[in-house]
Amino acid sequence: MARLDPHSYTDSEQPQIASLDWNARIDFDRRVFEAEAILTLKTPGSGVLDLDTRELQIDEVSGLDGRPFSHALSAPEKIIGARLRIELPSNSSALRIRYRTAPSASALQWLEPAQTFGKSQPFLFSQCQAIHARSIIPIQDTPRIRVRYRAQLTVPKRLRALMAARFIARREIGTTAVERYETAEPIPPYLLALAVGELAFRDLSNRSRVWAEPSIVDRAAWEFAGVESMLGAAEAMFGPYLWERFDILTMPLSFPYGGMENPRLTFLTPTVLAGDRSLVNVLAHELAHSWTGNLVTNASAEHFWLNEGFTVFAERRILEGLEGPEVGALHAALGRRALDEAIERFKERPQLTRLRTQLAGIDPDEAFSTVPYEKGYLFLRTVEETVGRSAFDSFLRKYLERFAFQSITSEEFVATLDELLPQARKVVDIDGWIFGEGVPAGAPAPRSSRLEALATLGADLPSEGLANTWTPTEWQLYLESVPRPASLQFCEALDSKFQLSQSRNYEILVAWLVLAVCSNYSPALPSVERVLAQVGRMKYLRPIYTVLTKNAGTRQLAVQFFERFRSIYHPIARHVVESVLQSGSTHCAP
Ligand code: BES
Ligand code: ZN
Repeated sequence: MARLDPHSYTDSEQPQIASLDWNARIDFDRRVFEAEAILTLKTPGSGVLDLDTRELQIDEVSGLDGRPFSHALSAPEKIIGARLRIELPSNSSALRIRYRTAPSASALQWLEPAQTFGKSQPFLFSQCQAIHARSIIPIQDTPRIRVRYRAQLTVPKRLRALMAARFIARREIGTTAVERYETAEPIPPYLLALAVGELAFRDLSNRSRVWAEPSIVDRAAWEFAGVESMLGAAEAMFGPYLWERFDILTMPLSFPYGGMENPRLTFLTPTVLAGDRSLVNVLAHELAHSWTGNLVTNASAEHFWLNEGFTVFAERRILEGLEGPEVGALHAALGRRALDEAIERFKERPQLTRLRTQLAGIDPDEAFSTVPYEKGYLFLRTVEETVGRSAFDSFLRKYLERFAFQSITSEEFVATLDELLPQARKVVDIDGWIFGEGVPAGAPAPRSSRLEALATLGADLPSEGLANTWTPTEWQLYLESVPRPASLQFCEALDSKFQLSQSRNYEILVAWLVLAVCSNYSPALPSVERVLAQVGRMKYLRPIYTVLTKNAGTRQLAVQFFERFRSIYHPIARHVVESVLQSGSTHCAP
């Protein structure tokens, strides 16, 4: 036996699944899927087939002719779930599994109408990365394996079901609607995605539209209007877009991430609807995954930086192309600060500051941090600076072409780099970057005159004249650099002059609230409460709960907020907050 991935029961010596026919009846009252999955094998096989499952109730496993196949569900392991072991009779080409999901399925969040913008209909969405697909489908849940699927979802007629796949048809029968989708390209299981709710759309170009709840769809269409020029910029760098359509789904506020690159249907948090297009780097990021991640895919969570480091690199190149080099540099500066904080947070677990990680026995959601993003970015920038932009760009093209629709390990990446850009190794400590801890000395630092101007200001209060020239990113850089605790007079002056507690830009708002709580500036607490009561994005929950917890004056408040709001958070986000509340550290200054 040879396991391919520390987070999957998939065995390289067993038959491989090539496609899935999925039929799921979605029951909003009981919060379960009653489902049937027909799995077709790449080549007919026999003997043992191990699948990943989590909290699934298996009702029947059989051949397509109905003949039962013997099977056993093992006791669940905490992180990877329960192995479903099936005995395939000789020359089996397909099998059928009837099963149902649990109300607590880890891939799903079921929202009450009160948690939506419209307040009148429920909402459901999936988030399968890294290892949650198994909580809705029994499957070989590793990105080493790609599958095609056809899906048929049965939902209440008043709702619409979307999937990250090609739309086939919607049929209404009585009080229900059946929506059918199918993939055109094979995908790793973590990219399977669905959402069900009251949804409307606006077309943005002939290959892109944005979906959202009706009350925010026009705002979303305005914010994301630049999608076609972003696609163009990415195509100029990476080659043609291969997924036909690039649609966007604007999620409810409880979505735990900024975005998720589900193929053909990127999911985006509505916290990027700042009203001034200042947070569209998240869109550029998810769009870039159409190449880095969705075409060339990390072989497991241990090689996650191959998805994210490349995508941050591409995101900043796209922004630079569209908005100029200053914008790229400002984002890189924010990234560098976040990276240094993450490395500090992992000082007891420095293995997690490697790009290539070892995650057997570690939950990928727990290992998640900005390290693969920003350290990966810095590494690629280092190589780019060494070999020059045009040589690096042609390397990127060849890399994408060679590994398109495949998955890749860090070791395979290094071999490819050595083959295609042998000059890099003479200058860059490639192994130190990929296999070592922390950030190697000599990492490229972002340079821009706007950054220098910010550094000159330091922690002084900016004049109104100066602050009026700032982009939101500069505001964020400034707020994050103010030494804390700041004096109450300083907080008061900042807030009253610039209305920070009322900011519509969540990046600015959260950077301000963290500074304010750290400085015991209590007039900011109503805004803190408003954010925690609505927003489920972990990037914001983590720093706010962290600072509330570290500050003796607000620790109790953190516990109370969490008690009140925990039920509206996504299970992954709930976990993050729980671990923050348990960590015992007692001072809040960076
Ligand atoms: N694929 C990630 C989100 C993700 C990672 C979900 C790991 C589950 C497990 C997505 O592309 C992402 O990186 N989102 C960022 C966007 C940011 C870097 C612009 C986020 O959510 O903040
Ligand atoms: Zn990403």
